[in-house]
Amino acid sequence: MDLEALIDAVKSGQQQNRGDLEAFVAMVADGSVSTEDATRWLKAVHQHGCMVDDIVVLTNAMIDSGARLSWPKGAPVVDKHSTGGVGDKMSLMLAPALAAAGCRVPMLAGRGLGHTGGTIDKLEAIPGFNCALSPEEMVAAVESVGCCIAVQNDAIAPADGVLYALRDVTDTIDSVPLITASIVSKKAAEGLDALVLDVKTGSAAFMQTVEEARALATSMVRTAEGLGIRTLAQITSMSEPIGTHIGNALEVLGSILVLKGEGSPDTRELVVMQGAALLSMTFDELDMEEGRRKMEKVLTNGDALEVFRKMCVQQGVTHEVAAKLIRYPEKVLGTAPEQTTVLAQQDGFASGYDAMKMAQLARRHGAGRFALEDEIDPLVGFLLQAPKGAQIKKNQPLFTFYHTRELSTEDLRELKSMVTISENKPDQMHRLVELIDSAETKA
Ligand code: URA
Repeated sequence: MDLEALIDAVKSGQQQNRGDLEAFVAMVADGSVSTEDATRWLKAVHQHGCMVDDIVVLTNAMIDSGARLSWPKGAPVVDKHSTGGVGDKMSLMLAPALAAAGCRVPMLAGRGLGHTGGTIDKLEAIPGFNCALSPEEMVAAVESVGCCIAVQNDAIAPADGVLYALRDVTDTIDSVPLITASIVSKKAAEGLDALVLDVKTGSAAFMQTVEEARALATSMVRTAEGLGIRTLAQITSMSEPIGTHIGNALEVLGSILVLKGEGSPDTRELVVMQGAALLSMTFDELDMEEGRRKMEKVLTNGDALEVFRKMCVQQGVTHEVAAKLIRYPEKVLGTAPEQTTVLAQQDGFASGYDAMKMAQLARRHGAGRFALEDEIDPLVGFLLQAPKGAQIKKNQPLFTFYHTRELSTEDLRELKSMVTISENKPDQMHRLVELIDSAETKA
């Protein structure tokens, strides 16, 4: 393996030698590349980018560094990846809803990153829920109940584990080729037929501008399609929090409400949109509209809720707790000891919530981590009584902050500045900004 040749190719915008790149990734996984050498290559790619064909080679090599799930003939195997949002609880509903609609969903998910929450932290708010599944346990769970949600682990794409940890400490996280290979390798290792990518854009997203989101979406679609996975990216707006429940335990509660056919219309709409895209990509007889109808049906008739209950039991929750969870979620999840409610100072309309401010305050109060070893407080979060667009009267509750620690004067000031009230009804919010599919990404 000629590392200098690889780095020179990156710096001069040439294609990297395929064999060398594959050998480099294999050596990263088995620990035979030094941290200094791996960092030199990462920094070169971070600074200069790399060729599209190199991203596919890199992604494939990362997949080959670990297990690849394989599936007996049967229902389509699908998944979703989101680049991370505030109140982004979609996976908790999407996996069981898609399973109820006839798909197999072997979902690998992560913990919170920066200000955004992680699916695994949310699920761990459920007493007994075990996300540490081996590849064999993932397959067995999916074959039994239709879906599972497991934490990313060293069995799948271990080269990504090594490179990701190194990127974290060498300021090389924000690189389109590196993010692409990292995300797509883990999804492709699940053995997917189809993938939907929710690429967030806006003030509370990692990709703040639509241009940045489009560049990442295009790269991920191209790479996943290059690996034979039918892929669609939905660029969605992430300036407003998603739905009415924000925070780990509160998001489980908000998800159960949607699975019961109730809950926040904003949350439900995103689940339906993502699910319909996957159904229309994998069932010949379903177009997007029919896919939407099917998603609506399983969210209303209790089928998705029943798969969610079974998934909880399959992943370690006792039958008693799972049954109680879906009937009386607050009793199982608990409630924070302190609740601070912000009241409207005037009549009008709730015209917007600052998702970034909300996420930052919740994180400082324990909803997210600053260091890997930080413990999450699952009960910290927000409940919006007056979501965006709601008409309100003076002194009516707008939202409640659930917390354990005392609030400082600064926290109280921040809380009051998170919501805007207007005299006129704000325009209806549309989350979907743009679609990127393979037709857009042909070079
Ligand atoms: N999530 C990942 O898994 N990898 C990245 O590089 C960024 C987000």
